[in-house]
Amino acid sequence: MIALVTGANRGIGREVSRLLVEAGHTVVVTARSLDAAKDTAAELGARAVPLRLDVTSEQDVRRAAAAVAERPGGLDVLINNAAITYDTWQRAVNADLDVVREAAETNLYGPWRLAQAFLPLLRHSRAGRIVNVSSEAASLNGMGSGTPAYTVTKTGLNALTRMLAAELRADGILVNAVCPGWVATDMGGPGGRPVADGAAGIVWAATLPDDGPTGGFFRDGRPLPW
Ligand SMILES: NC(=O)c1ccc[n+]([C@@H]2O[C@H](COP(=O)([O-])OP(=O)(O)OC[C@H]3O[C@@H](n4cnc5c(N)ncnc54)[C@H](OP(=O)(O)O)[C@@H]3O)[C@@H](O)[C@H]2O)c1
Repeated sequence: MIALVTGANRGIGREVSRLLVEAGHTVVVTARSLDAAKDTAAELGARAVPLRLDVTSEQDVRRAAAAVAERPGGLDVLINNAAITYDTWQRAVNADLDVVREAAETNLYGPWRLAQAFLPLLRHSRAGRIVNVSSEAASLNGMGSGTPAYTVTKTGLNALTRMLAAELRADGILVNAVCPGWVATDMGGPGGRPVADGAAGIVWAATLPDDGPTGGFFRDGRPLPW
């Protein structure tokens, strides 16, 4: 199986890549810095293929799709992991909309852009999967105040997940949103659970059997309320 992970140079994306390589899969390890992608791939071993990819760049995404079609030569699993702006300093009532817009470029339009660009390769796969790394913060059920840029863009990502799942069901491509839980990364800060625990639920969604769920929202393989 060939997977591509965005934001694979640190945090959860790096751990997901490590686990997939360890399980014998080929992983296109992408980062917005080529050096970071190369360093990570070198650490993970021969089945990791480095690629520069800023998810906000239309050109990068187009080039990445062309590069992956050449080497490793296809794609089975797209893991939209990269995200920014856990904006604990803002409230919806006073949020800087430029910050919200910038977050949307990475957290919502990035995954959308990647799904569109890689769709031809995913359609070609016999077991196409898209995993959108989301957050329980995006659950409308019980949503309250705070982190407006992050929350609204992840809620948009959840909506995109539902639509792509419906539109790609006939192609056999399973599309799910996964919350990794609170994880001790640069974004999560200290006190969260180990990255391996957060990454495991993403690997689960990336390696679902053909009769696995699609259009769902999960943490640790268990459904979360939308
Ligand atoms: N940690 C948590 O507690 C938690 C909880 C719920 C959900 N999540 C979700 O889990 C995912 C991973 O989070 P994390 O905690 O591992 O975050 P992180 O440690 O902050 O890492 C974020 C990664 O995304 C990359 N990135 C940011 N903007 C990018 C862009 N435009 N193009 C390509 N890559 C970009 C970063 O690359 P650079 O190194 O270049 O900045 C980095 O590799 C995110 O979707 C996050 O929302 C995390």
